[in-house]
Amino acid sequence: MTETNVSRAITKAVIPAAGLGTRFLPATKATPKEMLPVVDRPAIQYVVQEAVDAGLTDVLMITGRNKRALEDHFDRVPTLEEQLEDQGKDKLLRSVRDTNDLGEIHYVRQGDPKGLGHAVLRAKVHVGNEPFAVLLGDDLIDEKDDLLSEMVAVQQKTGGSVIALMEVPEDQISAYGCAAISQVEGENFFKVSELVEKPAVEEAPSNYAVIGRYVLAPQVFEVLENTAPGRGGEIQLTDALQTLAKGESEGEGVYGVVFKGRRFDTGDKLSYLKANIILAAEREDLGPDLRAWVKEFAAEL
Ligand code: G1P
Repeated sequence: MTETNVSRAITKAVIPAAGLGTRFLPATKATPKEMLPVVDRPAIQYVVQEAVDAGLTDVLMITGRNKRALEDHFDRVPTLEEQLEDQGKDKLLRSVRDTNDLGEIHYVRQGDPKGLGHAVLRAKVHVGNEPFAVLLGDDLIDEKDDLLSEMVAVQQKTGGSVIALMEVPEDQISAYGCAAISQVEGENFFKVSELVEKPAVEEAPSNYAVIGRYVLAPQVFEVLENTAPGRGGEIQLTDALQTLAKGESEGEGVYGVVFKGRRFDTGDKLSYLKANIILAAEREDLGPDLRAWVKEFAAEL
């Protein structure tokens, strides 16, 4: 733990969004998976909103080919705004303006698809020597939870890197990064001693899965530069964090916050459908009718 990292406020969020979205083909043949709507907003908008709500107003997206729709979505469309204004469609106008006012969004392309670690490394120049957050677009965290703010606070306190963890049934651990942890005395966070990317069930050190939120010390960049391709031949962020977890110098050490709230994995078809239904059922405008219909529908099954 050092004063250098500890005292730096965190303002930057990095959102890797270069993945091909093959799990959603053919929907993602010409449309980025991040643009698939959850109720009436593209999935990526929830993620950017989460970053902004945690005070991270400088967002860098790591994109790739076929991702122009992302830039268009967060850009102004003056003709559309004028039209909605003329027609007195205030609610729609507000929803369009909300997408433009989400902080400052920058874009850089990943180039080669060499994995999550490689995508994060592409943020090095933009981020510089400051701690920063990484939010994976496939994971939606319930807006009622302030997981990211909690992680930012742990980073500020420890000066290390912070990961979000969730307990999963044993047979699901091989879909995630997995962490061995121990309680930090007197604190509500954990020290991470070991990290393995997508271990086989019998090799998993625990059932604590890494979920898609990270608050990282800038030291991660140098480690990533020296991280060899791992699982799937890709440069894994989990492997770089394993190196940091073993270190004791400035900016090293990895800590875990265990998340007990609701997370939706919109990268998986079934979870994506569930997310749409659950979130719509909670909305004032759609909820009452949807809930009534779901009951009727379920009774017929
Ligand atoms: C990535 C990470 C993995 C993490 C997961 C969370 O994997 O590599 O460690 O558990 O995100 O969603 P992916 O799901 O992109 O294959």
